[in-house]
Amino acid sequence: MRYRLLSALVLSAVTRLAEGAPAAASYDYIVVGSGPGGGPLAAELARAGYSTLLLEAGGDEGDNPTYADIQNFNEAANDEATRWDFWVKHSDDPARELKFEHTTWDTGDGTFYVGLDPPEGAKHLGIQYPRAAVLGGCAMHNAAVCALPADDDWNIIVNKTGDTSWSADNMRKYLKKIERNEYLAAGNPDRGYDGWLATTVGDASWAQNSSLPALKILKTLASLTGQDPNDVANLVNSDLLENVPNVDEKQSFYNMATHSDSKGKRNSPNNYIRATLADPANYPLTVQLHTLVTRVLFDNSTKPRAIGVEVITGPSLYRADPKHDREASDLPPTTQIFAKREIIISGGAFNSPQLLKLSGIGPAAELAKFNIPLIKDLPGVGENLGDNYEGSLLAIGQSEYPVESGLITLLFRTPNAPDNRRNIYTWCGAFSFEGFWPGFPTWHGPTQYTCAMVHMQPKSQAGTVLLRSSDPRDTPDINFNFFKRNGDQDLSELVEAGKLLRKAIASASDTFVGPFEEKHPCKGPLGTEGCGDEVEKEYYKTQAYSHHATSTCAIGGEKEEMAVVDSKFRVYGVEGLRVVDASVFPVVPGAFPSCPTMMISVKAAEDIIEEAKKTPVV
Ligand SMILES: Cc1cc2nc3c(=O)[nH]c(=O)nc-3n(C[C@H](O)[C@H](O)[C@H](O)COP(=O)(O)OP(=O)(O)OC[C@H]3O[C@@H](n4cnc5c(N)ncnc54)[C@H](O)[C@@H]3O)c2cc1C
Ligand SMILES: *[C@@H]1O[C@H](CO)[C@@H](O)[C@H](O)[C@H]1NC(C)=O
Ligand SMILES: *[C@@H]1O[C@H](CO)[C@@H](O)[C@H](O)[C@H]1NC(C)=O
Ligand SMILES: *[C@@H]1O[C@H](CO)[C@@H](O)[C@H](O)[C@H]1NC(C)=O
Repeated sequence: MRYRLLSALVLSAVTRLAEGAPAAASYDYIVVGSGPGGGPLAAELARAGYSTLLLEAGGDEGDNPTYADIQNFNEAANDEATRWDFWVKHSDDPARELKFEHTTWDTGDGTFYVGLDPPEGAKHLGIQYPRAAVLGGCAMHNAAVCALPADDDWNIIVNKTGDTSWSADNMRKYLKKIERNEYLAAGNPDRGYDGWLATTVGDASWAQNSSLPALKILKTLASLTGQDPNDVANLVNSDLLENVPNVDEKQSFYNMATHSDSKGKRNSPNNYIRATLADPANYPLTVQLHTLVTRVLFDNSTKPRAIGVEVITGPSLYRADPKHDREASDLPPTTQIFAKREIIISGGAFNSPQLLKLSGIGPAAELAKFNIPLIKDLPGVGENLGDNYEGSLLAIGQSEYPVESGLITLLFRTPNAPDNRRNIYTWCGAFSFEGFWPGFPTWHGPTQYTCAMVHMQPKSQAGTVLLRSSDPRDTPDINFNFFKRNGDQDLSELVEAGKLLRKAIASASDTFVGPFEEKHPCKGPLGTEGCGDEVEKEYYKTQAYSHHATSTCAIGGEKEEMAVVDSKFRVYGVEGLRVVDASVFPVVPGAFPSCPTMMISVKAAEDIIEEAKKTPVV
């Protein structure tokens, strides 16, 4: 059996590996991490006939309804079975950090305290940043929104590297390759209908009911963004991944597309990996779960060449895992596994740079501090961390009636945006979403109404992922450095976006669901005026949150000092090593990175297979 599934099986598989530890390479490729970056790639390599070992720190929850049923996404992100808690900072100003309303503390008795008034003796952890360690990665606990980056988020890679295969036009073909579209009529030339990733949309028929107060919100949003208020019932059904000229300059409602199927089942790399293992064609894919890769092994005879990985095996070995045994001090025994062709790192935006650094690839001074022998001085590893800023306008209806409606999804441009592109993705509905903390989200009662927003094209990609120690079980020290560069511009864009959303909600104040009380960014009766630009800016500065971390091993040109990988995902300065995941995007890709990361995963597979055909293994 090549699929080492649950703990019992894993343990026997581990024993087998340990006993029969292959001296010579037994796989063509080893892929580290099974998320949107690594999962599809491993499946594709195996399907092309290359023996591939996929190593994943977590287990498999593909059949668990918490993960499989898309409606349970909030439970999934809170679930201890897969949760990796990274406690991050948004700045290096401790006073500012202590203003974050959901900052979290360890009380010492096995519980968290979330808030600004911690009990005596509690230890400050920071801001919870959830990740999923599980077969399929964060695509197993995310909200599954499937969107495309702005065209220039792809085109900038062409500019940096000269590799035209990254042009926005060409990148569309990878969407087509992975997608099994379940919501558009067949025959759309830009879309796929026989891929492995189902996409679907929700029911938008509520927008035909003009007696719903939410229609007022919808129509006001239409007027404020240059759309026809009389056509909203059609507009809300627009295709989020449409291919029209100048799409990035278009303000429009959309029907939020998700990577799930029309029966409400989540689709992710998990499906593709399992389908590949189950295929009667017997593809040479081996999946080893509960395996934490601790470093990449190199042959130094000439130019350093990645030849294998060192791993420790067992569940919950990483210290981000709430189930990790905190008493355990010694590193469990390591095992070495070798590959004939290449090692591909796909641990995500926090773990890929950490693993590179642990392996001797990163800023020389930082590695020296932890006595890690230097393989290649690459100052860009762990730098350039970017994310979408997120915030929300939360209103509580003061009547007894909920604001009945489906989701409103809108992409728009604030008047102060620096170029012609839309810069805000918002979704409004009778829910609350205010970021992440243990136990999120807060239920504010049946009359809660939120417009949540994701800011695109952030100007400050100044975050860092730094080693805390050379122990591979430790989490890195993560500081997003929010708003560090051009922060005032981004903050002003968030303020303008909030103003527009406030006006829209206020337009339903005189219906049977109104009036509204605003919880944030302003506090008090919700009107069309806010509480002042400076107050609102301060709110976003201290309270913005995020969950789409990218760009810590960025693609760049050969001469760019901070570039980590080239346009074919190859790590500069060494051979046989690539990074394929959300950490390679040089700029934050639009509003949602999940589908773009799956697209680059199959692109990487294509590049690797093409190269392999030209290079026989000696
Ligand atoms: C709560 C939440 C909601 C989100 N909602 C959306 C959304 O609606 N739409 C969207 O587009 N994006 C969303 N995202 C973001 C999106 O899911 C991620 O950007 C995407 O999953 C990144 O893919 P990745 O492959 O780079 O990394 P990951 O998905 O993090 O996968 C990395 C994998 O590698 C494994 N791994 C890491 N280190 C090691 C190691 N050393 N050894 C072995 N295995 C290792 C991990 O266990 C994990 O399975 C959300 C994220 C979160 C946290
Ligand atoms: C790419 O370079 C061209 C020419 O310098 C420039 O006009 C264009 O704006 C650049 N595009 C991106 C996305 O950087
Ligand atoms: C429209 O909404 C109103 C108010 O909630 C409701 O009473 C009515 O049944 C709805 N009509 C349709 C056709 O759904
Ligand atoms: C290559 O060099 C590094 C750093 O000096 C060392 O840790 C590693 O063991 C070497 N690998 C081999 C195969 O000699």
